[in-house]
Amino acid sequence: MGAEENGYFTEENSVDVVTSRNGGAKSARLKVIMEVVTRKLHEAVKELEPTQEEWMDAILFLTRTGHTCTDWRQEFILLSDVLGVSMLVDAINNRKPTGASESTVLGPFHVADAPELPMGANICLDHKGEDMVISGRILDTDGKPIANAVLDVWQANDEGFYDVQQQGIQPDFNLRGVFRTGKDGHYWFRAVKPKYYPIPDDGPVGQMLGALGRHPFRPAHLHYIIKAEGFETLVTHIFDPDDPYIHSDAVFGVKESLLAEFKLAADLARASELGFEGKFWQVEHDFVLAPAKS
Ligand SMILES: [Fe+2]
Repeated sequence: MGAEENGYFTEENSVDVVTSRNGGAKSARLKVIMEVVTRKLHEAVKELEPTQEEWMDAILFLTRTGHTCTDWRQEFILLSDVLGVSMLVDAINNRKPTGASESTVLGPFHVADAPELPMGANICLDHKGEDMVISGRILDTDGKPIANAVLDVWQANDEGFYDVQQQGIQPDFNLRGVFRTGKDGHYWFRAVKPKYYPIPDDGPVGQMLGALGRHPFRPAHLHYIIKAEGFETLVTHIFDPDDPYIHSDAVFGVKESLLAEFKLAADLARASELGFEGKFWQVEHDFVLAPAKS
């Protein structure tokens, strides 16, 4: 028996027997990861006592998950999302000081080369949907405005689709834009009210949600990536608190501090200044950036 071995496999000593084989691991981190994963996995199997058929079902589920992945679809990320693991990894890696805005998942629909637009631009290029004006300030944790902060914003349209999901139907870069703040840290732009949308639910993850009695919807939101020199980059959303799915986001992305107020305004003079006809939605939300870690 080699020094790295720990006897023959039994139900009782299964974890020790398996993990002690990893003594020669090339990386100490990998050794720790496999120790924890093996321990938790064996614990789950011992608690559940699956039949051979159930274990094969699990293997076939993961096989289908892999087969569903393509260049444009990542079913394992979706699985991580609906199990709450993506949000957990995000939370662990984005612990913020008191007062700083909270992060949430990036999601799969960010496009890296959206156009930089003048402040106030309307990012809705096809004029479909209910008009909306969004404004606020980018601040530091002392409440001072941050100049030269770059906001990258994107959202779904009034039917719950991103431009990249409807190429040829929506104009390219519809409902996306990059804005840069001036000295006052203020930002504003025009758009349309976004709608809730389902995560892709025609694959194994969608079938799993169905079997669990869960819906696939994400409540309406706007995405932001906010960058400024000397500050941590903030990847976040703001949500419509009146959305029917606000308490049951399929990927657990909602946080109390990310609920914005969506007010319906009937100020016709203001509407005409904004180039809108009739009623429009007003959303105001400030973001507070945490100082960069030295
Ligand atoms: Fe989204």
